Amino acid sequence: MGKCLSCQKEAPGRTQYHPACLKKLFGVGWVPQIPFGIKDMPAEVSKSNAKMSISGVQIKASVKLDREKQEIVMVQSEATHVLKAEPNEYPELPQNENCCMNMARELGMNVPSHGLLTMADGKFCYLIKRFDRLENGEKIHKESMAQILSVSTEDKYQGSLENIGKVIQRHSKNVGLDLVHFFERALFSFLIGNGDMHLKNWAVLTLSNGEIHLAPCYDFVCSKMYLPQEEDFALSINGRKNGLKKQDFIALGKSISIETKVIESTFELFRNAKEKILEIASHSELSPSRQEKFKEIILERVDRFYGNLRRRGLREV
Ligand SMILES: Nc1ncnc2c1ncn2[C@@H]1O[C@H](COP(=O)(O)OP(=O)(O)O)[C@@H](O)[C@H]1O
Ligand SMILES: [Mg+2]
Repeated sequence: MGKCLSCQKEAPGRTQYHPACLKKLFGVGWVPQIPFGIKDMPAEVSKSNAKMSISGVQIKASVKLDREKQEIVMVQSEATHVLKAEPNEYPELPQNENCCMNMARELGMNVPSHGLLTMADGKFCYLIKRFDRLENGEKIHKESMAQILSVSTEDKYQGSLENIGKVIQRHSKNVGLDLVHFFERALFSFLIGNGDMHLKNWAVLTLSNGEIHLAPCYDFVCSKMYLPQEEDFALSINGRKNGLKKQDFIALGKSISIETKVIESTFELFRNAKEKILEIASHSELSPSRQEKFKEIILERVDRFYGNLRRRGLREV
């Protein structure tokens, strides 16, 4: 049995992707080639923040599928996917991101189709289908929380999750649902060691009828794997970024009027998902030592949040 490089679940024979996963990601039944390597990609390294951070260093490109050549090509306009290559500083980041997005999808979050593909230099890259394009190519207007709050890129770590919640409260068409989704993503990010959810990693979409919705998930990675000194969260929660506890998430939920029973059911959802999340880490394309590191990070967070569940933890996975 092989493993699907998109969903990471078992795939028949030696196939590298489930046909259904390929279909969802590219709309075709074959595996596109990538005729370029990381060296051929334009480097857009952000010099914008002094904080030692994972953001802005990943080499990425806007791409689309050339169906005739059966290749992924870089384009200036009409891109259908975002392609992210592996930075030297952060080995296996594509595998890391693919794994985190699969965890999020397993938990029922709104996750675009995504997967790993091999580049011409033999390295994995991560691809995600754009959520701000309709199938006919039409654009959906996207704005990051940094844009909405008029915060410059340099200041993308200046802010709080409460601020983001308030934007959703003020503008979203489905306020209740979007707030719960936002709250789930915040807790999930904490539990997987995703310390890079700054203001540019949250966005809203404005549909042609004017409705505003929280954009789907993107840029979920376990940054803690590379940056052991990193603070728990990129933005403050209940006035702090580090040493976060359950109480801080309760305060966040209350400050944006999420009902106590909804807060509790979100906590319960993640508590029950612990084994599944660890299993997805074990089935990822991360190397065994990074899988172990990832599971340690998750277990530390789970212990801190829920109390010591460790004895019921790692062994089974
Ligand atoms: N699936 C997507 N659809 C549309 N836009 C996206 C998607 N994924 C990322 N983006 C946009 O591209 C930007 C960079 O992508 P991101 O995954 O955040 O990369 P980085 O790791 O470089 O921050 C995001 O801030 C977002 O605006
Ligand atoms: Mg980002």
